[in-house]
Amino acid sequence: MEICKLEHIRKDYIMGETVSPLKDATLTVNSGDFVTVEGPSGIGKSTLLYVMGTMLQWEAGTYTFEGRDVAAMTDNEKSDLRAEKIGFMFQDTNLIQALTLRENLIFAQQVGGKKADKDKVDELLMEFDLLDRGDFFPHQLSGGQRRRAMAARCLIHNPLLILADEPTNDLDGIWAEKIIQMLKREASRGAGVVMVTHNTHWAKQANRRCYLEDGALFPVTEETAAL
Ligand SMILES: Nc1ncnc2c1ncn2[C@@H]1O[C@H](COP(=O)(O)OP(=O)(O)OP(=O)(O)O)[C@@H](O)[C@H]1O
Ligand SMILES: [Mg+2]
Repeated sequence: MEICKLEHIRKDYIMGETVSPLKDATLTVNSGDFVTVEGPSGIGKSTLLYVMGTMLQWEAGTYTFEGRDVAAMTDNEKSDLRAEKIGFMFQDTNLIQALTLRENLIFAQQVGGKKADKDKVDELLMEFDLLDRGDFFPHQLSGGQRRRAMAARCLIHNPLLILADEPTNDLDGIWAEKIIQMLKREASRGAGVVMVTHNTHWAKQANRRCYLEDGALFPVTEETAAL
């Protein structure tokens, strides 16, 4: 089942000079997919995830989510879509600084007027070994704990699409492995997972690999992987 599809997407940033990290980006994500987006720093990987996360407007091309044209959605419809169906692990761990970890998760849960589910929050804190850190503010957590907190928040709505931007950063090997296993598990329950990574070892765990070059996406083949 197709979850979302980018076709010939162009994204320009105009800051004095125009930068176009996406020129002709095409990608389909199906249920069960675990796809990587690879490529050097500054090439446009995070930009791609922001477009897919409906957080960034693009200049040309089409983006559909479950067959619906995202460009035709109102801000409220996009907000509902993000709250209900998209889980984001941002590259910079952007928890709300004035809320404790537990409050951050409850806040994410209540977006869109939903009820808090304390058991689900506890379950996720437990999964990422953060139960004893629930009352800590983000600045009181270590970098790795904040990264794990992002993973917990990302799963709060059992998302259909997971956008994970360098999700193994700040983590030791054991936790990085757990995060990759979590992403695999989510894909096997039917989510689509898109992971940006610079780490070939973790990239090889995905079932499809792509790289971004000159604003377009290409499959990683044995030949390109060796470069
Ligand atoms: N809001 C913005 N305004 C202007 N330019 C931006 C903006 N966001 C990103 N850029 C530029 O777009 C390009 C792509 O940035 P992006 O963050 O998507 O790269 P990336 O591939 O994720 O890099 P990294 O691996 O370092 O995270 C960069 O040259 C960056 O400076
Ligand atoms: Mg990035």
